[in-house]
Amino acid sequence: MNYLHTTHPKNSTASNLIDPQGRHLNYLRLAVTDRCNFRCTYCMPKEGIDLKARDNIMRFQEMEHLLGLFLDLGITKVRITGGEPFVRKGLPDFLTKINQYEKLETINLTTNAYFIENTIELFQKIKIGSVNISLDSLKPDVFYKITRRDDFERVRNSIDKILLTDLNIKLNMVVLKGVNDNEIVDFAMLANKYKVEVRFIEQMSFNGGGFSGEIYSADEIIGTLQKFFPEMVEHPQMRSTARLFDIPGFRGEIGIIAGHSRTFCSTCSRLRITPDGTFKTCLYDHGAVNLKDMLRSGKSDKEIKTAIRDAVAKRAKDGFESQHRTQQKVHFSKNHLSMAQIGG
Ligand code: GTP
Ligand code: 5AD
Ligand code: SF4
Repeated sequence: MNYLHTTHPKNSTASNLIDPQGRHLNYLRLAVTDRCNFRCTYCMPKEGIDLKARDNIMRFQEMEHLLGLFLDLGITKVRITGGEPFVRKGLPDFLTKINQYEKLETINLTTNAYFIENTIELFQKIKIGSVNISLDSLKPDVFYKITRRDDFERVRNSIDKILLTDLNIKLNMVVLKGVNDNEIVDFAMLANKYKVEVRFIEQMSFNGGGFSGEIYSADEIIGTLQKFFPEMVEHPQMRSTARLFDIPGFRGEIGIIAGHSRTFCSTCSRLRITPDGTFKTCLYDHGAVNLKDMLRSGKSDKEIKTAIRDAVAKRAKDGFESQHRTQQKVHFSKNHLSMAQIGG
């Protein structure tokens, strides 16, 4: 089958995806693997997570097919996530392939930057919107403490290299109480030097078990920044997940992501497919249907699109309702998924 074809308007059988709150869903987060070369403490335990058997992970061909269906349904942006997406062999070819999909306007990436040195050129050739890079410390020893890997130098070199391009880069720092919270100002200063969005993220419960519930909240982060940069001003509008702030004279911007407090759900346009093909309409739900299994059992495109629309029609109004529906216990639970299993 020619998957390019499924994105052609003539073959489009669908209207846009609109949920019960009237939110238009045009953004798909596609997690291409649950594997990662790091072991960030806020994401997984040191021994890692229970990985899916390879056969339970979507093949690239399946992802191409599903993406084609989502484009028919009104998705225009995709974010490729993982685990670490670049541990998946063949990802550059997949990116090149989906770059040809006419209805796909933007390809975004979230990565830990370990493998990107040789792919920067490719990023410059395809329709990249933003490359979001996880970096939680500027100090090698703290980087090691968080990622449990001694790779600071390699990551920092790749980040320095990509910051010299004109790609739109966002730096993601998960703020961890007593671990890297004393680096908030140093991170903000990167937005002075570079035209980059430095984003401070509230820790969420998806760490594969053992979440302590101790959060350095978005409000606390803003307070810390305001103390040091009293002239910092907030943008009137948010950008996606982030409240945005300007500091006069800075080339870049500051973003604050209240992932745990979930203050941005009312404008959320994101859908998700996890590495094993589970379709999620919210980070906090347990998934509506497994699209890879539907494909493998021979379900038609029409049936798969209907399943997607049905799930969207039942979408919860926010992350709290999703969580309530699934009866998850956010605090002190040992049963939590890792962000690597969801795709962030
Ligand atoms: P943009 O597309 O650039 O806005 O990126 P993003 O913030 O959506 O994605 P990224 O992969 O950089 O994730 C940054 C943080 O936001 C991570 O901690 C994600 O888990 C979190 N995040 C992304 N989407 C959601 C969401 O729908 N709900 C919640 N609570 N957090 C989210
Ligand atoms: N809480 C908040 N953010 C997290 N990420 C991974 N795990 C968590 C968590 N428990 C972030 C990563 C990456 C993005 C996809 O999600 O740092 O930037
Ligand atoms: Fe890997 Fe990202 Fe999880 Fe860190 S946060 S272990 S880099 S998937």
